[in-house]
Amino acid sequence: MLKATKISDPQVYQIVADELDRQIHNIEMIASESTAPTEVLELSGCVFTNKTEEGYPGKRFQAGSQQADRLEILAWKRAKEVFGAEHVNIQPYSGSTANYCVYNAILKPNDTVLSMRLDQGGHLTHGSTANFLHDIYNYVFYGVDKNTELIDYVDLEKKAREHNPKLIIAGASSYPRLIDYERISKIAKDVGAYFMVDMAHIAGLVATNLIPSPVEHADFVSSSTTKTFCGPRSGIILCKKEHAKKIDKSVFPGTLGSMHLNTMAAKTFSLGYLKTDEFKNIMKQVLINAKTLAKELTSRGFRIVSGGTDNHIVLVDLRPKNLNGQQFEKALEYVGITVNKNMIPFDTEKPSITSGVRIGLTAVSQRGLKEKEIVRIADIMNKVALNPENIDNLDACKNEARELISKFPLYPQGYFED
Ligand SMILES: Cc1ncc(COP(=O)(O)O)c(C=O)c1O
Repeated sequence: MLKATKISDPQVYQIVADELDRQIHNIEMIASESTAPTEVLELSGCVFTNKTEEGYPGKRFQAGSQQADRLEILAWKRAKEVFGAEHVNIQPYSGSTANYCVYNAILKPNDTVLSMRLDQGGHLTHGSTANFLHDIYNYVFYGVDKNTELIDYVDLEKKAREHNPKLIIAGASSYPRLIDYERISKIAKDVGAYFMVDMAHIAGLVATNLIPSPVEHADFVSSSTTKTFCGPRSGIILCKKEHAKKIDKSVFPGTLGSMHLNTMAAKTFSLGYLKTDEFKNIMKQVLINAKTLAKELTSRGFRIVSGGTDNHIVLVDLRPKNLNGQQFEKALEYVGITVNKNMIPFDTEKPSITSGVRIGLTAVSQRGLKEKEIVRIADIMNKVALNPENIDNLDACKNEARELISKFPLYPQGYFED
């Protein structure tokens, strides 16, 4: 890959080469990341980049659409099969834009939306004050119970009855537990609200039936195709048949422009890959590795939010270690373990500092790391936490992390090679 760029633009080539080097030598544990298979990288840069295409198969606004139509129809077929969906729209550019398309399909300005608070697990696009949506719709938020750190369904129901939202959103960025979709769906029906699930983080685990699917319970399901989906940087919407027209109209021409056909080709590959035994085995290991990390960190004196995990995320409370998220993220980055600082429920620190870190197990599981290696990672993390400012300590941890990850190549078949 990048043979031409290497010759014509060595500066850009070098930046990519350095990023590859970083990924090869670091233990990547950002929960929203995964490693794109080589096919996804190839297809993301394929000749479909050259084609402008708007509309839907059979109703295009441009000539020369034969291949685009074949591709989109194949993607529909695969997506419906793998997620058991009645209708699919494959055109959104990302998880965020998929959400915007759903909102645009069913909401009018000032409509009320009930969603999960950002600082207790929700996402910016669910109405955070930092997002433009906050000024368009009227948001009411639910969160987690202070003791269990699980979604407070009683409060959610109370708020739904009090505010009569037009839409209830479930799904999160940093919630390590399963969500009771059936319960929220019943609440939504009772108050006459639409129900949308944003499964951006957990789509790969849903596709492999390792955790419950929201598809039968929700009117709309949106997702990124990165994260546990392990595909290209893109998005997808699934919905009930009765909403198909509204969603398609909202995606195009309502919200987006021409399709990113190159990314759609990669997404179509991924939709096939989700069904393979190879992918299912990786997702199984993701769950085992996440549980292992939660257990091992607990035994080393960290506190795990909600006491454990049911998905790929381990949310760690660093207060028992007298550390904040910013300090720990920075020390781990030096050591070669990449995580992100993250608010924990009822955090008293600012979002730029935080009391926690969010750790994801997808990328390391794709690379082949199993329980034995996860125990070693927990051990390195603990050594870092015990003495995060001591350079000798950090250098020793860095050597250990490098040695560990060196046995698990990022792209075993090579990246720059033919
Ligand atoms: C729950 C949730 N929804 C949507 C998004 C946005 O996805 P994207 O980065 O594909 O726009 C994220 C990103 O982390 C997320 O966690």
